[in-house]
Amino acid sequence: MRGLTVKMAPSILSADFWRLGEEVEQVERGGAHLLHVDVMDGRFVPNISVGIPVVESLKAHASLPLDVHLMIVEPERYVGAFARAGADIITFQVEATSHPYRVLQMIKEEGKKGGIVLNPSTPLDVLDYILGDVDMVLLMSVDPGFGGQRFIPAVMEKISQLRREAPSLDIEVDGGVRLANVQGVVKAGANVIVAGSAIFDSLDPCETTKEMVRLAQKAWGEGDLPGGVKDLLR
Ligand code: DX5
Ligand code: ZN
Repeated sequence: MRGLTVKMAPSILSADFWRLGEEVEQVERGGAHLLHVDVMDGRFVPNISVGIPVVESLKAHASLPLDVHLMIVEPERYVGAFARAGADIITFQVEATSHPYRVLQMIKEEGKKGGIVLNPSTPLDVLDYILGDVDMVLLMSVDPGFGGQRFIPAVMEKISQLRREAPSLDIEVDGGVRLANVQGVVKAGANVIVAGSAIFDSLDPCETTKEMVRLAQKAWGEGDLPGGVKDLLR
């Protein structure tokens, strides 16, 4: 796990969209590392969320990199538009396309980072011949479509297995992560942590983000080490 650091990625799906700017500023002040933007089409998932104009506005005003999670059928039709709207990382569901390799190439041609998302019941072996081409793998820990669902416990073992296979890969986990289980998720091997309702439904999203980051870094082993020592270990 050399060189990897923990990154907290609050999901704006659970934010109050009337006050989106303020909500984003709160998690930025809380030390978030990425903004997770959930794009849903009402086809791949039974819900519809936000799209290209929201990514453009976030890009214009937010200082954090945008981690755009596409839960849409045929992502190849839209990755270019999301890249041009300002996404920094684009992840797409492997179940939603017949051509994941091509989609990754399209993302890279736009100069962006690309990652593959696996639903909880999708086996890791879909990654067998493509792992070398991804910048990140996102393991869903709920079936996608809604915030506020419960973490599916079987995914813990899946995270550990992928970490054993890919020690230096960014592994993101999304769904049902909260203060009570974030350390377990990190100890299993995830280093990019999405949390929506746990942050934005809390009384103080800034403080909750800080606490999530603190707990996650402690579980990863960053929290206990002074900066200089950390650098020596890289
Ligand atoms: C679910 C989305 C998630 C969601 C997570 O389909 O991909 O990013 O916002 O929400 P919580 O953290 O509330 O489970
Ligand atoms: Zn997501």
